Amino acid sequence: MSEFTSHVRSLERSRAARNRQDRPATFELGGRTWDLLDDVFAPPFSRSTAVSMDLLGLTGTPAPRTGSFLEMGCGTGVIAVSAALAGCDRVTATDINPQAVANTALNARRHGVADRLRTVHGDLFAALAPEERFDTVYWHSNFVLAPADFTYDTLHDRAYVDAGYRAHEGYLAEAPDRLTPGGRALLHFSTRGDLGLLRSLAGRHGRALRLLDSRVDPEGTETVEHLLFEIRATAADAGPTGAASP
Ligand SMILES: C[S@@+](CC[C@H](N)C(=O)[O-])C[C@H]1O[C@@H](n2cnc3c(N)ncnc32)[C@H](O)[C@@H]1O
Repeated sequence: MSEFTSHVRSLERSRAARNRQDRPATFELGGRTWDLLDDVFAPPFSRSTAVSMDLLGLTGTPAPRTGSFLEMGCGTGVIAVSAALAGCDRVTATDINPQAVANTALNARRHGVADRLRTVHGDLFAALAPEERFDTVYWHSNFVLAPADFTYDTLHDRAYVDAGYRAHEGYLAEAPDRLTPGGRALLHFSTRGDLGLLRSLAGRHGRALRLLDSRVDPEGTETVEHLLFEIRATAADAGPTGAASP
């Protein structure tokens, strides 16, 4: 494992971001002000949320949106709230970190979209009703791989590393099944993650990854490439009718 992809290094970044004396109570992103609660992934200390917004076309004057949007791992809720502001009429935001769920609810109220943005606390899709479907399912993930036996000291660390890629595996398996006809399951990953393992987990669940877009982003002396994947059900996983997802 290189320093670049090291989970130890990512955990150092997590702890620094969590404990910084200058951690603000509010921050600016995409021309708006956002609340930031303790123990929640802090967009001011990582450029990846801004890159995520860019990959989704939610920066500047976003293209008008319609339909339903599920944000997995919502953090402060910047992406979910921005999707609602862009016109998505039913937004669901969920996170394993209860502070992130509270933070997203706060930002939904701050920006006047609480009537169409629902917050849910849970591990991946666990807190959603089994029949719930969405036009877009999106996760800006904790893409750095930690060993399978890694145990988390803080909820904040869950924003940075995924032990044994268990959360990624669960997301790859279930996200395409949570779509309306014609819907899209998306994953924001990066070259800090283990792309070979991600592809192999996708294959194990009958999923294929299609690269839709990418952004090269300098981080200090390093360069990270952010990758936007669509997760598709493969023909082998098309079910008894043989009708693969679009
Ligand atoms: C990189 S952060 C992104 C936060 C926010 N979406 C943003 O862009 O600023 C990843 C998020 O995924 C959440 N997460 C990690 N594992 C999860 C799981 N098993 N179920 C739901 N959310 C999870 C983390 O708590 C964290 O908020």
